[in-house]
Amino acid sequence: MSTTSIHSGLEVLFSREQIRHRVLEMGRQIDRDYAGEKIVLVGVLKGAAIFLADLARSISVDNTFDFVAVTSYGKGARSSGAVKLIKDLDQSIEGKNVIIVEDILDTGLTLGFLCSLFEQHQPKTLRIAALLDKPSRRVEKIDADYVGFTIPNQFVIGYGMDFAERYRNLPDICLMPPDAPELSAG
Ligand code: PRP
Repeated sequence: MSTTSIHSGLEVLFSREQIRHRVLEMGRQIDRDYAGEKIVLVGVLKGAAIFLADLARSISVDNTFDFVAVTSYGKGARSSGAVKLIKDLDQSIEGKNVIIVEDILDTGLTLGFLCSLFEQHQPKTLRIAALLDKPSRRVEKIDADYVGFTIPNQFVIGYGMDFAERYRNLPDICLMPPDAPELSAG
């Protein structure tokens, strides 16, 4: 049986080794900042699932997971910027150290919405860990406390990030070619 790799021909922006190294560093930083504390990692589905899985395993301090899911209207053009929660937290975050875990911080609308929402639950602390940061795209004034890599406005896929739900399983973070048939096909 022949197999076709979805990875072939894609330009790697960050290799799995670079990602592993950086995620370990982020985990060590979080360990230092939260020594002796407990933390709740809140992953934003679906893109952050793989990053959360690796980040959690690079953290030694006592941690639990939760997940939320959001949808945004006018995602491509960001015409409305409205973000809606479609899966809430399973557990209370009141009085807890919360780190929102995101694959990418782009316009900031998603994290702006989530931070405002979570603040209402009165966590002890609320921080953001984003593997990738695209500051040039920012609409909402928001920064991550832990950033893996800062990138220009490039369309990235892999390590949880998709194009039309595909490519999330790529172990490396790759660039989506601007002339890819998938992009022109819509
Ligand atoms: C991506 C990413 C963030 C959001 C960041 O999610 O995972 O949640 O966009 O963009 P923003 O800063 O402009 O709000 P996406 O909507 O693609 O869903 P996914 O995680 O399921 O891929």
